[in-house]
Amino acid sequence: MIPARVISTRVIPPLVGVLVAAVSVAGCSAPSQPAQVDAQAEPSASGAANPSPTQRPGTARTPQTPSPTPSSSTGPVSSATPTPTATPTPIPTPSTHPTDSPKAGKATGPVTDTPFEVNGIPIVSKDHRLSASYVPPWADQPHGLHPDATAGFKKLQAAARADGLRFSIRSGYRSFATQKGSFNRAMQQYNEKTARLYFAEAGASEHQLGLALDAWDGKNRGTAFARTKHAQWLADHAHEHGFIVRYPQDKTHITGYAWESWHLRWVGPETSQHFTPGSGLTLEEYLGIA
Ligand code: DAL
Ligand code: ZN
Repeated sequence: MIPARVISTRVIPPLVGVLVAAVSVAGCSAPSQPAQVDAQAEPSASGAANPSPTQRPGTARTPQTPSPTPSSSTGPVSSATPTPTATPTPIPTPSTHPTDSPKAGKATGPVTDTPFEVNGIPIVSKDHRLSASYVPPWADQPHGLHPDATAGFKKLQAAARADGLRFSIRSGYRSFATQKGSFNRAMQQYNEKTARLYFAEAGASEHQLGLALDAWDGKNRGTAFARTKHAQWLADHAHEHGFIVRYPQDKTHITGYAWESWHLRWVGPETSQHFTPGSGLTLEEYLGIA
């Protein structure tokens, strides 16, 4: 296991990361329908009142207090017991989203060369951006992902397979340059509001950490994926394998992004266990920085 602190201290040659990203995004395709957002590309909600797989009426939200995890010890990529690409086409999801929040707009946070961390958990968002120089040490690994995340995803895949579902990784690590291209294309393909809800500006995507991935069923991308059994399965079980659905429904005012049923963030099983199905808990709330 790679120590958590390595995440913010080791930097590998950018070229390696670019090559990895190029491979991982090769399968991406441009949105085929203006109304649909395809997540690497990531949206899939067309404003229609389609049922949201992850929404559990009546389920109480329980903001958690971050567990005191020293960044120098276990950290977010710890996998003591974990079981645990492409470019998309957006479709804005549920109209219940408070997407008019200021957070839904531009990324405005400070830019740093290494990830901002809270309790050893690296955070990249519209409020905490990375510079182009940051490339994770594991960018040359499969999908550019941290080995613990890869191991966790394999366990997730095995558990899903036992339930009759298959998952693969559509997009893992994305370099600053790759993200820049993705965002610029989204700004041309969608209106600005939609683009900013589903596509991070360069430096504001946690894909640059190599700790996030877009899972899919090999067929339904972006917002269309939200209506699949696969999306529901992730909502129910991702937390059992060290992952969290990073952008829950109705939390745009906190995360800055729309509901993305496919976007998983590796935080390790000790942390992910707190993100119970239906809680709608965000990483920002869990860490006390919402
Ligand atoms: N779709 C997420 C927000 C990203 O681009 O990183
Ligand atoms: Zn993603």
